[in-house]
Amino acid sequence: MSYRIAIVIGSLRKESHNKALAAALAKLGPSDFTFDTVRIDDLPLYNQDDDGAPSAQVTRLKGAINAAAGVIFVTPEYNRSIPGVLKNAIDHASRPYGQSAWTGKPAGVVGISIGQIGTACAQQHLRTMLAYLDMPTLGQPEVFLTAKEGFFDASGAIANEGTRKFLQGWMDKYVAFVKAHAK
Ligand SMILES: Cc1cc2nc3c(=O)[nH]c(=O)nc-3n(C[C@H](O)[C@H](O)[C@H](O)COP(=O)(O)O)c2cc1C
Repeated sequence: MSYRIAIVIGSLRKESHNKALAAALAKLGPSDFTFDTVRIDDLPLYNQDDDGAPSAQVTRLKGAINAAAGVIFVTPEYNRSIPGVLKNAIDHASRPYGQSAWTGKPAGVVGISIGQIGTACAQQHLRTMLAYLDMPTLGQPEVFLTAKEGFFDASGAIANEGTRKFLQGWMDKYVAFVKAHAK
């Protein structure tokens, strides 16, 4: 059996640290796991009036989440919460009421920011949303990373061996978590 994981990244920036982190994380997964980044940059702003006739972008987003065995959120922190683009995507795929794509999908939450507390506040806000959306979410280890020069090596891998091992441990736990929920 193979497992497809949807990655949702909370930054649209070309040189995003979180995009780089998502790519590095995907390489730590086992061979029976594939990781696909879900596109959210072309979603319209959520408007409940559109629930009955969702745009093609929203249908695509919900299809990708529905098809996934789990979801990893990789997000920066904006003003002590998650960026609006991520909240917009979460709201879109949660509707219409009773037809949320998120329900039951095992979630992982990680993030990197330039601040010392490495997205901790954003992640706490996100975890509140995921609980409401009925997504079982890996509790430990928490992954709060601070972006510094040289965090990624030239190949895009995590340069520091301790951090790499820590993230490998996180991935191993997330993989087991997804498998446990797939049963
Ligand atoms: C609108 C805005 C708000 C921000 N607020 C925070 C914050 O609350 N905490 C923090 O650690 N960094 C904050 N930052 C800095 C981000 O951590 C930094 O821009 C980071 O590189 C964003 O992630 P990315 O590289 O994946 O785009 C903020 C940046 C922006 C643009």
